Amino acid sequence: MNREQAKDRILTLRRELNHHNHMYYVMAHPEISDYDFDQMMEELIRLENDFPEFSDDNSPSKRVGSDINLEFEQVRHNYPMMSLGNTYSREELEEFDARVKKIITSEFDYICELKYDGVAISLTYKNGSLLRAVTRGDGEKGDDVTRNVKTIRSIPLKLNGSGYPDEFDIRGEIFLPRAGFDKMNAQRMENGEPPFANPRNAAAGTLKLQNSSLVAKRPLDCYLYYLSGTGFFHYDSLKMAREWGFKIPLEYTKKAKNLDEVFEFIDYWDVHRKDQPFDTDGVVIKVDSFQFQEQLGFTAKIPRWAIAYKFKTERARTRLNSVSYQVGRTGAITPVANLEPVSLAGTVVKRASLYNSDQIELLGLRVGDWVYVEKGGEIIPKIVGVDTDARETESKEFVYINSCPDCGSPLVRNNDEAIHYCPNTFGCPPQIKGRIEHFVSRKAMDINIAEATIDQLFRHRLIADISDLYKLEYMQLVMLERFAEKSAGNLIKSIEDSKKIPFPRVLYALGIRFVGETVAKKLARHFGSLENIMNAGFDELLEVEEVGDKIAGSIIEHFSFARNREIVSGLRDAGVQLELNRSENESSTNLLAGMSFVVTGSFEKYSRDDIKSMIEQNGGKSMSGISSGTQYLIAGSKPGPDKMKKAESMGIAIISEDDFLGMLNKS
Ligand code: IVH
Repeated sequence: MNREQAKDRILTLRRELNHHNHMYYVMAHPEISDYDFDQMMEELIRLENDFPEFSDDNSPSKRVGSDINLEFEQVRHNYPMMSLGNTYSREELEEFDARVKKIITSEFDYICELKYDGVAISLTYKNGSLLRAVTRGDGEKGDDVTRNVKTIRSIPLKLNGSGYPDEFDIRGEIFLPRAGFDKMNAQRMENGEPPFANPRNAAAGTLKLQNSSLVAKRPLDCYLYYLSGTGFFHYDSLKMAREWGFKIPLEYTKKAKNLDEVFEFIDYWDVHRKDQPFDTDGVVIKVDSFQFQEQLGFTAKIPRWAIAYKFKTERARTRLNSVSYQVGRTGAITPVANLEPVSLAGTVVKRASLYNSDQIELLGLRVGDWVYVEKGGEIIPKIVGVDTDARETESKEFVYINSCPDCGSPLVRNNDEAIHYCPNTFGCPPQIKGRIEHFVSRKAMDINIAEATIDQLFRHRLIADISDLYKLEYMQLVMLERFAEKSAGNLIKSIEDSKKIPFPRVLYALGIRFVGETVAKKLARHFGSLENIMNAGFDELLEVEEVGDKIAGSIIEHFSFARNREIVSGLRDAGVQLELNRSENESSTNLLAGMSFVVTGSFEKYSRDDIKSMIEQNGGKSMSGISSGTQYLIAGSKPGPDKMKKAESMGIAIISEDDFLGMLNKS
């Protein structure tokens, strides 16, 4: 390659990498795989090394990526948070090994770890208590996300045992296990919100929420993998940190005497990573001895004593046979790719989500195209690219539908949204059935009725909206196919039982766009009754915590339809709970759901009994003694010495009154 060609290539690569960086970090919507991105970055770095005259401080090769968010306080790291050099090839691992051995001439071990795919975090502990949690940011300074991190239950607020330095930093990865991710996305779709692309984006997004009570509800977890300057060996420092109460993934960590043992570890985990409850994208190899680490030192950006080996994402090439469209309960249209069945990562893939029309446009997709399909963290595989070279000459540009595939109504699209909607809210069958399915779901009215039964009742014109459920009669049901006396009786009883469901859940069950469980609870508590909500103006709605223009507008719009008001009347006549009863009226939340506390000592702001009832009122459990089920000991001044000792020995987090109030957003 001559100078001119190199210059052209460098400029092209920079332009493309900048674009992909933006799509990845800002839009959370990557268009290419990590592998392809890394390949391009490597090519750029190589060319910039070979042709230093074209170097540029603003080249994408010069930055580590930044996740700085202006709404969090910026904190400088005690020592920079470096990233790792990475490779996809075994030859480069051999080269790494050779480079290390050039400097370290005596025997040494490697430590092999998994590379957890989440968000890097640095935790600072002072006198055994969590002082601060800071994201990587630009490597020099990051966001202070301490409040949010305190909600992660696997991160100790106070350390166990002894022997830890007075002040130290420990680093690790915050991630969202796949099951929690799936649950969260299902919930988001139900609320009519866009799903997160993968667990890493969901974890990053969660950590940056301004409201830590929302963070507390998402099952974030954290593995710690680096502790500097304690003891002589990395592996031993991890074992020690485990004693202090940190979640150290020793079961995924192994000492290797040589490169062959490193490769064994890689081969094993390339297969078994798929059975783990979280995502990993590779293996990290570190020199064990701190003394040798120091001797090896750092280059400008990365340590010379560690490297990441990345697994290739599995990818298949197949044909796009057709695109079909699903209509959700809010009328949102989701395009789905129907693929020529192809086997990928152990399953046969036939369909892939296409998200929306923008995505199809971005990919430049056409029916009949050969496409690349990848399975990352997401359960549903996605199309990551098109093999345009294999495109047939007669292929036609893709045309997105402009009318509803079910009812034929012309679709609408709001200016700022990527999604098309069918506006025929009350006449489009999948929307009507979708709303009924949402209404009966477990977290809503918890009526025990199968989707197929809803379909059957809808076809027989027995139900046309949710309030019709309460008009169903036993005799109508037993006459239907597939209904026996018992199942008819059960359904009637289940519908009858739903009249006891408290008002916040009924409000959620109505399926107002953007009104999920949390917002429904806040609205219910603020207004007390559906009547008040229906009569509230835009500005009054905005007074409710978490309600912004989007939600307020959606509520106003919902009740502007006479039909929706009729449905409410139908529910009222049936005796469904449309207001809070008195005990629910007291300020209560679910912020502490699933958590157990023991309270000891005396406090400054509240009495011990106040604290106990606050625990109960916010969904937590207040226990008199410490047991294996206890998560937190709230300790005031003069705490019971036995309780303190027991909590310490059992690794139970000991927190202050302020820590506790912080959990309730009260401090
Ligand atoms: S060691 C100087 N160990 O991968 C020490 N990093 O590409 C650097 N990561 O920024 C970190 N698992 O966010 C290390 N077992 C592991 C890791 C790990 C995931 C992440 C970390 C880092 C990135 C580097």
